Amino acid sequence: MSATLRFGEGNLQYDAQGRLRHLLSTEGLRERELLQILDTAESFLSIANRSVKKTPTLRGRTIANLFFENSTRTRSTFELAAKRLSADVLNIAVSTSSASKGESLTDMIDNLMAMQVDGFVIRHPEAGAAHLVARHLGDSALVVNAGDGQHAHPTQALLDVFTIRRLGGPIEDRVVAIVGDVFHSRVARSQIHALSVLGCPEIRVIGPRTLVPEELSALGVHVYHDLQAGLRGVDVICALRLQRERMESHRLPSLDEFHRRFGLTPERLQWAEPGALVLHPGPMNRGVEIASEVADGAQAVILQQVAHGLAVRMAVLAILAGAVGGV
Ligand code: NCD
Repeated sequence: MSATLRFGEGNLQYDAQGRLRHLLSTEGLRERELLQILDTAESFLSIANRSVKKTPTLRGRTIANLFFENSTRTRSTFELAAKRLSADVLNIAVSTSSASKGESLTDMIDNLMAMQVDGFVIRHPEAGAAHLVARHLGDSALVVNAGDGQHAHPTQALLDVFTIRRLGGPIEDRVVAIVGDVFHSRVARSQIHALSVLGCPEIRVIGPRTLVPEELSALGVHVYHDLQAGLRGVDVICALRLQRERMESHRLPSLDEFHRRFGLTPERLQWAEPGALVLHPGPMNRGVEIASEVADGAQAVILQQVAHGLAVRMAVLAILAGAVGGV
């Protein structure tokens, strides 16, 4: 994760009238839009408990999901979110699409635009891919970044702050620790920006020096390389997956050693505040960054995060489509 990556998202996310048009990153997002998304998500949460789990909010609109990287939770909650808003949904399975024949991303977008698609949800291994599409489309369709390389994953960060606010109390007085592979994590980077904008008084990052470099303090976070010291006084623990697929071999000597020093076990949970919330974006490596007793324990809110993700993604799509509110 580079602290210096910039794609001009501060401007690109807003249209000429200052309305939120694309969601590319939590960086550069204003507090009022962040709060609007969280408040709108609250109002969508109860739809999941109805026998008919639908609202007509996006009836007649078409949303295309383009996933160039594997995904379980993000992909299915985006699909369900659009369907529950009554949109037509196109799921492009990239391995069977023309991308595998060398078609460029923007050619693929142009072809989908010829079918009058109103919005794109994009996950891509390259940092900046969603920004490229947003720049290409301007105001003609909405773009949501569902994860780009090691750069950003704004809806994950939004569902995390939604979960903290709902189950852990006001963000303005919570101490939050992000634990593990911060270096490779687009989730961590987006969480840090979202928490800062919402006034979180103390954000910590905890992990080995190779995965939590000192330079991260440039983002305004407190860096710890010792789990016990880092967890003292913490109200919310955000565990991260060890991203083995992005790992250059020298960054991590052994999974066992990582677990011994930074794995969240029931005993180590005691180092944080009593009842501290435990979040994880999934997929989890049980026995590596998190022990099963913690993942399945009373303090974990990991499955609530998934349920919240659906409501948050409904809110994002509805707001960007201009179908809800307008700030
Ligand atoms: C995260 C991702 O893909 O960035 N997962 C997710 O979206 N739920 C985190 C991860 O892969 O570790």
